[in-house]
Amino acid sequence: MKGLLKFITCGSVDDGKSTLIGHMLYDAKLLFADQEKALELDSKVGSRGGEIDYSLLLDGLMAEREQGITIDVAYRYFTTDNRSFIVADTPGHEEYTRNMAVGASFADLAIILVDATKGVITQTKRHARICSLMGIRHLVLAVNKMDLIDFDQNRFEEIKKDFMQMTHGFNLESIQVIPVSATEGDNITKKSENTLWYKDLPLLPYLENVDVTKENEQDHFVMPVQRVSRPNHSFRGFQGQVEAGTVSVGDEVITLPSNERAKVKSLLVGDQESDKGVNGQPVTVQLDREVDVSRGNVLTTSENINVTDMFTATILWMDDTKLVPGRNYLVKVGTKVLPGTVMSIKHKIDINTGKQVPAEQVYKNELVECDISLSENMVFDKFENNEALGGLILIDRVTNMTSACGVIEHDLRRSTNVKWQETDITREIRSQQKGQKPLTLWFTGLSGSGKSTLANAVEKRLVSMGHHTMLLDGDNVRHGLNKNLGFKENDRVENIRRISEVAKLMNDAGLITLTSFISPYESDRQNAREIIGEEYVEIYVSTPLEECEKRDVKGLYKKARAGEIPNFTGISSPYETPVDPEIEIDTSRYSLDEATDYVVDQIMKYLD
Ligand code: ADX
Repeated sequence: MKGLLKFITCGSVDDGKSTLIGHMLYDAKLLFADQEKALELDSKVGSRGGEIDYSLLLDGLMAEREQGITIDVAYRYFTTDNRSFIVADTPGHEEYTRNMAVGASFADLAIILVDATKGVITQTKRHARICSLMGIRHLVLAVNKMDLIDFDQNRFEEIKKDFMQMTHGFNLESIQVIPVSATEGDNITKKSENTLWYKDLPLLPYLENVDVTKENEQDHFVMPVQRVSRPNHSFRGFQGQVEAGTVSVGDEVITLPSNERAKVKSLLVGDQESDKGVNGQPVTVQLDREVDVSRGNVLTTSENINVTDMFTATILWMDDTKLVPGRNYLVKVGTKVLPGTVMSIKHKIDINTGKQVPAEQVYKNELVECDISLSENMVFDKFENNEALGGLILIDRVTNMTSACGVIEHDLRRSTNVKWQETDITREIRSQQKGQKPLTLWFTGLSGSGKSTLANAVEKRLVSMGHHTMLLDGDNVRHGLNKNLGFKENDRVENIRRISEVAKLMNDAGLITLTSFISPYESDRQNAREIIGEEYVEIYVSTPLEECEKRDVKGLYKKARAGEIPNFTGISSPYETPVDPEIEIDTSRYSLDEATDYVVDQIMKYLD
């Protein structure tokens, strides 16, 4: 018996995906009797006028919705005499590319459906490209509704040719094109009398026989650590799934990123003692010496796995909001999650032609190659070498949704050549000398809210108290360091990123830094908080828009209303209200002195 086959089905709405799988299960007698009865009953009121509607079988599973990224992917398990299967049925509508990508990331093979009356369409190309991106090396093209074109061999051959041309250059190991009729049952489980010209296997027998063994199963052992188990003082086991190769008692393994070596002292596969663990098995590894390993680290026998903080990846953007370079996300590779920034978009990949297209921003369902930089070193590998250490997802830090999934192409050597230089005079020494704890007081709010006036007054008060300060103001910094930046979203992201880095350097110098920038996006403020660390104190100047507009000190609101300034915050560009600021002050309700007193008073608790 062949091993388990994990596959997905992809097709556009109405291509007959659910009917195809439903029919396969039904013919192969893979249903329980009561399920069959239920189907017949349901079908009486269904769309096929009393005949069995096989799609009901799978659509029922759509109820199996899970939270987060697996929304709308239905998994079905079945077994024939020859093989066991797991099928992920994913919705075909473009909206659901996300689900397809998630389904594809788990599968060895994809059945892509086309409607014989329509042939290969844009969706087909999109599906094939995403499958290939997500590491699927085996495709079946099911040319469905053959009955509607009278089982015309010529039309079938044309569709086959289109598909073969389209997938040319994809990294695939097998493609099988099968003429079927999902409703009538042609070439689903049995050879069809209507397509005597088709000499190969029907769909189910093909799936039972196709060999999807990965060549790299002889590879080095790789196990991302999911958990460190310490049931008692004498036992410390590293638990995870073997993602490549095998591991045996006595093997020497390398721990990454700590780069130590140790021998495997004992092994559990599941909860059974064993001499050997193989690819796909959950294992607990006990080593013969103490090593520095925690969740997210990797045990391996390979000498060639990367430990760096920058790489190039191809990602599928799945978020409703666009991808803007410079923005910070959580990056998950294997079992490790780290903050990371999409530093630059190299190009988009046209989903139809595969051509590279220059791009500054990326919208939902687009494929893009980009450079990603992480906040610290991570263990990873090219997707080509290892799917577990080469696949990644990007998580939005505010909504916690999966924004993108993708694959790592290669590491960026640049980062390994730039080393952090330790200096003798540290931030602690510098701040001790100044007799103060460094802080960054991050003022955020609309233009005209009073940020700069307030920051200026607070700085004067701090200096009069003997503190050492520096004030970074939006308009001023845009005259120098950020001269080259405008007010489009990506420019603002970069503006705030640079200011955050500068504020951090000023903190390193021992100074109390005050920054006065609109900083309208929550994710950028979170990134600032991340970069600056615990010194970051957010002060939301919450003066309402009407008041700011009434003040209109610089006359900018008037111009913006007249359409003379594009992307003006509050008018034609958003301001996202801070989620959890340390301090909030509405300057329309207090005199400047009162507001300053309040803010300085609040700051005191962060100063000692
Ligand atoms: S931020 O959004 O990137 O944080 P920043 O605080 O540096 O903006 O600059 C805001 C200042 O630039 C405003 O106070 C205003 O004087 C000026 N400005 C010019 N054009 C715009 C615009 N389109 N939107 C907001 N501010 C603008």
